[in-house]
Amino acid sequence: MKIVFFLVLLCIATYCQASDGQEERVNWRGKRATKIKVNLSLTNCKCNGYERGTQGGGPRPFRVVCKKGNKTNKGNGSKKITNDCTYTGNPHKCSDYNNKNQKKFYNELIAVIAPKQCGNLNLAGAPCPTGTFNTKKTCKDIDYN
Ligand SMILES: *[C@@H]1O[C@H](CO)[C@@H](O)[C@H](O)[C@H]1NC(C)=O
Ligand SMILES: *[C@@H]1O[C@H](CO)[C@@H](O)[C@H](O)[C@H]1NC(C)=O
Ligand SMILES: *[C@@H]1O[C@H](CO)[C@@H](O)[C@H](O)[C@H]1NC(C)=O
Repeated sequence: MKIVFFLVLLCIATYCQASDGQEERVNWRGKRATKIKVNLSLTNCKCNGYERGTQGGGPRPFRVVCKKGNKTNKGNGSKKITNDCTYTGNPHKCSDYNNKNQKKFYNELIAVIAPKQCGNLNLAGAPCPTGTFNTKKTCKDIDYN
């Protein structure tokens, strides 16, 4: 009996590690199992946003990866420029966020960040934008830097 129990645990642990790589987190304590992912397409620039951080009430860093593509020129000349930036903030002070509006919040957040981050793809080294990002919508007291 003990051996069977151990094997089951091992299987669960292995499964968790496998799904970790796909931005998924299996949830041991009955909390939200999937980390939120949002995206936004602007002219010639696409951004994906990923919620980071651990379970619970701690900070939720927000990683945004933007990519400027050139579809007309596949192969040699086409250069994809990307920047990969992580912003820090903690939305848990916001009751709307806590009240099941997480995805809405991240959609608003990427809408504020993406235009600046995409714009920076045109600069040398495609730096991450600095400054304070505030959605001024669902959680207007929450700043990301
Ligand atoms: C972008 O987000 C939309 C809406 O949530 C979703 O349907 C779509 O699959 C996403 N696209 C990508 C490339 O992740
Ligand atoms: C895509 O590449 C072509 C050929 O190099 C260039 O003429 C064009 O301006 C590029 N488009 C964008 C949106 O950068
Ligand atoms: C890429 O460049 C090489 C060498 O200049 C050339 O032979 C090849 O045809 C080019 N390929 C494309 C898809 O433009």
